[in-house]
Amino acid sequence: MLNSKLNGEVYFPSAEVLKNATIKDWEQLNKKALDNYEEFWSELASELHWFKKWDRVIEDSEKPFYKWFTGGKTNIVYNCLDVHVNTHRRNKLALIWEGENGDSKTFSYYALHRETCKFANVLKSMGVQKGDRVTIYMGRVPEIVIAMLACARIGAVHSVVYGGFSVESLAERIEDSNSKVLIVADGAYQRGKIVQLKQIADEALQRCGTVEHVLVVKRTGQEINMESGRDMWYHELMNLPIAIQNNTLEEVDSEYPLFILYTSGTTGKPKAILHTHGGYMVGIYATLKYVFDIHDDDRYWCAADPGWITGHSYIVYGPLLNGATSFMYEGAPNFPYPNRWWQIIEKYGINILYTAPTAIRGLMRFGEAWVNRHNLSSLRLLGTVGEPINPEAWKWYYNVVGKGKCPIMDTWWQTETGMFMITPMPCVPLKPGSGSRPFPGIVMDVVDEKGNSVQANEEGYLVIKTPWPAMIRTVWKDSERYISQYWSRYPGMYLTGDSARKDEDGYFWIIGRVDDVIKVSGYRLGTAEIESALVSHNTVAEAAAIGLPHEVKGNAIYAYVILRTGVEKSPALIDELRQHVSHEVGPIAKPEHIEFVDALPKTRSGKIMRRVLKAKALGQDPGNLSTLEE
Ligand code: WTA
Repeated sequence: MLNSKLNGEVYFPSAEVLKNATIKDWEQLNKKALDNYEEFWSELASELHWFKKWDRVIEDSEKPFYKWFTGGKTNIVYNCLDVHVNTHRRNKLALIWEGENGDSKTFSYYALHRETCKFANVLKSMGVQKGDRVTIYMGRVPEIVIAMLACARIGAVHSVVYGGFSVESLAERIEDSNSKVLIVADGAYQRGKIVQLKQIADEALQRCGTVEHVLVVKRTGQEINMESGRDMWYHELMNLPIAIQNNTLEEVDSEYPLFILYTSGTTGKPKAILHTHGGYMVGIYATLKYVFDIHDDDRYWCAADPGWITGHSYIVYGPLLNGATSFMYEGAPNFPYPNRWWQIIEKYGINILYTAPTAIRGLMRFGEAWVNRHNLSSLRLLGTVGEPINPEAWKWYYNVVGKGKCPIMDTWWQTETGMFMITPMPCVPLKPGSGSRPFPGIVMDVVDEKGNSVQANEEGYLVIKTPWPAMIRTVWKDSERYISQYWSRYPGMYLTGDSARKDEDGYFWIIGRVDDVIKVSGYRLGTAEIESALVSHNTVAEAAAIGLPHEVKGNAIYAYVILRTGVEKSPALIDELRQHVSHEVGPIAKPEHIEFVDALPKTRSGKIMRRVLKAKALGQDPGNLSTLEE
């Protein structure tokens, strides 16, 4: 396995790493998976609890609507909680939480199970039934985990909206999912200030009309509006006799919906990606087990937000399925000082840290001294996700944070894939900036316009050629879009929307999105959302948004705006428009810069040619302009 003939700069696992690694031979595991893919997944699935075993591992009679573990009955929450409560893990910590203001809470498996059952009862008493959607809108607090698990426990479908989104984004997602219940926090701490989550929710609820009950978690305790008959406090409900009734759990079919999660796509409104209980459970259980090589006494910290897929899969479900101790932190990496994260690692003895390149680049700017003040010797493994990591940031992470002894798991995946797809394991030789190869058994490729594999090191479209258990099942309420977006460009291949290269060793190098998705600080945004926020302002006639390279954020948003006739251009208006986008979509979508223009490059059919805008902004050749109207 330790192939010394690999090309380029390679970091081989140390003897110490190999000694600790559960999987010591990646090639062998990959061969096993390739030789009998169904058996490979079937064995992993057997490590989890099923009320009824599946009849078939993969059901592909209605491609691309693949089904996994059909005929089986399970519930992901049973495997996350109940299973452990009956073992030596009963009193083990499942979740350790620290607030930005220093508050902290811990939950053993027993306690998390109990809180989840109680909240499941509360939801039931609110009339939430199997199949109902529930929107969750909170910061990084333990109650978000409890709320998600409580929904899934009773077969309700959660739809978490990231707490950094704002009024219109929230309203749109509540409305589209037809949620009757909204679970929200009064506010969230962010860099010493309070994000007014409840106030944003109140404003959003004026724009959509499906919600009957709002359950409010008290986090900040500041004065908020409580609408009588609609709004109720979480802590009061949890103290009612009804909450401690029983431990109801819905035994669901493998393919039963677990959650929807909205994500930005190529065009129009964000789409809801649907994941189901059985396959998703097996996929994230297995990937976390092998890639982060969870040991029973590990303390694992995924520093993402539960509001995105990384949080769903690898803060909430994955660690609990593996019986791990998961740590969650409410605040920002550099508040109040740039050592906050390093302090936390030392304080809690974190063994595994999983974060995004943007956080690394941000912390790197403050210099090594902040890191070196702390004892980080507990760290064993590091991870990164969300965007390509530049080799400079990779090396800083490896040498300064990991002291040259912690392999970096650069995991490529998507909301749609649900689980890691291209990723190393601790035993795999690493090349800074590459996530190495696909997870065992998964076949991925880089293809040209026609769908043919390109030569080694040539750029092309990244595609997936095998189904995988945690794969997107459909776009909620829009199966046409599921087919057209992912499966229609090349028959039989899933289109990722990314461009990539594969080197002579089979290592994949992600270049970036090739569609109208912008990754800002690892957050996924659509140009359409930013543009529609801009044109909803009464001074704007037309708008185009693009992403341009940014040293810390990876990409930053630039917007080009055509004002309505008679509107005066001014720096104050630029500020107002930036604020407007922040208010409608969220602070993460606030354009870095807005430029007023008189025309936008469009095709004859009226589509904005964002690549021309991008080339112009970067001073590059815009390429083929034959479809440009003027
Ligand atoms: C990008 C996040 C390079 C990619 C889990 C993908 C990455 C999009 C990596 C999905 C990585 C994610 N290296 N690029 N390790 N991981 N991406 O849905 O462009 O928020 O298509 O899921 O993030 O973003 P999403």
